[in-house]
Amino acid sequence: TRVVPVIAIDGPSASGKGTVAARVAATLGWNYLDSGALYRLTALAAQRAGVAWDDEPAVAAIAAGLDVVFAEGSIRLAGEEVEDAIRQEEISSGASQVAVLPSVRAALLFRQRAFCRAPGLVADGRDMASVVFTDAALKVFLTASVEARAERRYKQLMAKGIAARLQPLLLEMQQRDDRDRGRSVAPLQQDANASLLDTTDIPIDVAVARVLDWARAVVPDIAGAAV
Ligand code: CDP
Ligand code: CDP
Repeated sequence: TRVVPVIAIDGPSASGKGTVAARVAATLGWNYLDSGALYRLTALAAQRAGVAWDDEPAVAAIAAGLDVVFAEGSIRLAGEEVEDAIRQEEISSGASQVAVLPSVRAALLFRQRAFCRAPGLVADGRDMASVVFTDAALKVFLTASVEARAERRYKQLMAKGIAARLQPLLLEMQQRDDRDRGRSVAPLQQDANASLLDTTDIPIDVAVARVLDWARAVVPDIAGAAV
C-alpha cells in the first residue's frame, strides 16, 4: 500500500492558512481539512447544549459525537448550515478554550486523520505538523504581522456581513494566539521540520505558488503534473 501524501499548514489566526490550504488542495485535486472548524463546531455545539467550555468531560463527549458534514463552502452540524455561525468571534474564542482540553483534542484526533485519503491531503490548523500528521511530506508554518492579520480578518468578516470592529478584533486575536501558544498540549509553534512563510507583504497568489513549488520538490507524484 502506498502512503497518502500530506501537506501540513500551521500558523496563528488569519495568517492565511485556510485560503492557501484550500487553494493548494484544489490545484492538486487533493482533499482538504480545516481542522479549526472541528474546534469551532465543538464550541458551538457545547454552547447550544448549555455546556460550559471548561467542562472537560462534557465537551469531550460533544466533540466525540459531532454530527458534521463538510462540503465546499458549507458545514452542516446536525443538518443545519453553520459555516457563518462558527466564524463569529465569540465562537473563535470558545474554540480556543475547548482546544486546551486534552480529552477534547484526543476525541478529534481520529476524525482529523480520517481526512487522509488518496490522492493526498492538505490540512491546516495549529498542530498538523507536530501531532496529527507528524509524517507529512511537507510542513509549512504561515505567519504575518498581527496588524496585517487583524486587518485581513476584519475585511473577511465585513465581506461576509458579520459585524466586527478592528481594534477589539486585534486584541481578541492576540489573546487567542497567546492561549494557543501557551497551552501545555499541542501548543502553536513552528515544527522543527516546517518551512516558514511570512505573508505580511506577499499576496495570496504568491503564497499559494510558493507552497506548490515546495510540494513539487518533495512529492514525486505531482512533480511532473501540470499544476
Ligand atoms: O485560515 P486563517 O485563519 O489562517 O486565514 P484565512 O481565513 O485563510 O485568511 C484570512 C483572510 O486574509 C482571508 O480573507 C484571506 O483572503 C486574506 N489573506 C490575504 O489577504 N493575503 C494573504 N497573503 C493571506 C490571506
Ligand atoms: O481561522 P483561525 O486561524 O482564526 O482559527 P481556526 O484555525 O479556525 O482555529 C480556531 C481555534 O481552534 C484556534 O484558535 C485554536 O485554539 C483551535 N485549533 C487548535 O487548537 N488546533 C487546530 N489544529 C486547529 C484549531
